[in-house]
Amino acid sequence: MHVPTLIERKRDGYALDQDAIRFLVEAFTDGRMPDYQMSAFAMAVYFQGMDAGETAALTRAMLESGTTFRWPRHAPRVVDKHSTGGVGDKVSLVLAPLLACDELWVPMISGRGLGITGGTLDKLESIPGFRVGFEPEEAIAQLERIGVVMMGQTVSICPADRKLYALRDVTATVPSRPLLVASILSKKLAESLDALVLDVKFGSGAFMKTREDAILLGEAMLEVGVAMGVETRVRYHRMDEPTGWAVGNALEVTEAIECLRGGGPKDLRELVLALAVEVSLAGRERLEGWLDGGAALAKFYELVEAQGGDSACLDEFSRIHPAATVREIRSPNSGVVTRVDAETVGRAANALGAGRDRAEDAVNPAVGFDRIVKVGERVSSGEVIARVHADCQGDAEEAERRFLSGFSIE
Ligand code: URA
Repeated sequence: MHVPTLIERKRDGYALDQDAIRFLVEAFTDGRMPDYQMSAFAMAVYFQGMDAGETAALTRAMLESGTTFRWPRHAPRVVDKHSTGGVGDKVSLVLAPLLACDELWVPMISGRGLGITGGTLDKLESIPGFRVGFEPEEAIAQLERIGVVMMGQTVSICPADRKLYALRDVTATVPSRPLLVASILSKKLAESLDALVLDVKFGSGAFMKTREDAILLGEAMLEVGVAMGVETRVRYHRMDEPTGWAVGNALEVTEAIECLRGGGPKDLRELVLALAVEVSLAGRERLEGWLDGGAALAKFYELVEAQGGDSACLDEFSRIHPAATVREIRSPNSGVVTRVDAETVGRAANALGAGRDRAEDAVNPAVGFDRIVKVGERVSSGEVIARVHADCQGDAEEAERRFLSGFSIE
């Protein structure tokens, strides 16, 4: 098979067969197909799409680019959730330890920041020492001990997604339905789950801008998930304003810890519980009890320690990554907040350094926004509606200008 010919066929709108798709994925994973060819292929898929058979073949080829987890016979119910990505979405940081309180196993394989959406791995790595690189045996040993592991794609688990994910992030090819389905489900299927809940976002800060597109994505994932034997649930959530009050890696960890202490923003807690009840057998009341009574927080501490992180710093995490400048943004007038545009805030956070321009870039854990007001709140003229954490005064001023361009009040 000839890579340029296959790219050309996709570019011209033809469907590729299973063998061709497998060949491309294998060639890319083992380095015979360079990034520039895969970038062109991803862009062709972005414009031409893939039918259900191609999408399933891509998912399977990516899944089979590595090994899958094989659970011991005594393993309890194995569950996970995955989000299609949003701004300020720190749900996984709360949900994974919460579900592990239920004596479930939660082998969560996550990604890094993608486009304007933040990544769980980048957030976790703002905890000093926290390690996300695991191989299956080590992950299973940790699950035996504490019931939860939070890790990235590795050379042995979903290596194709590890490479393609990084490439999509910097080639404007993220919001393609088949690429989203294959990326998300290849990782989740590698976890050999009993149950999976998918949080499909739609709105300005999501890859799917409309509910209709989100439903098409959700149904495509449901079809592949069920066909692969996983009890799959899909929930749809609006992503027009950021989740919670904070956007930015370390700032979001601080907020997740507040939620694990039983506090934090209401929308974050609600989202965590709405997703948890879909895969947990415990029921909402017990789940709330674990958040309010400290069990979920204690599990998070265990998780951080198990993965080499410094749990002592979690008590006062907001001090760990002080930004050079913290600037208050004030409301230009009084009224009820009608818009805090998630896409605008996500782009502004990326411009501050919270996301990447190139695959090899590092993210800056300290920068972003916190104390962001929520839509529906009443504010007075001059009241603080958010704070910018930036590397310098110039960046903070630019971030304020961007933030206000996505902010409306009536
Ligand atoms: N999460 C993933 O794992 N992959 C995507 O493509 C988007 C969100």
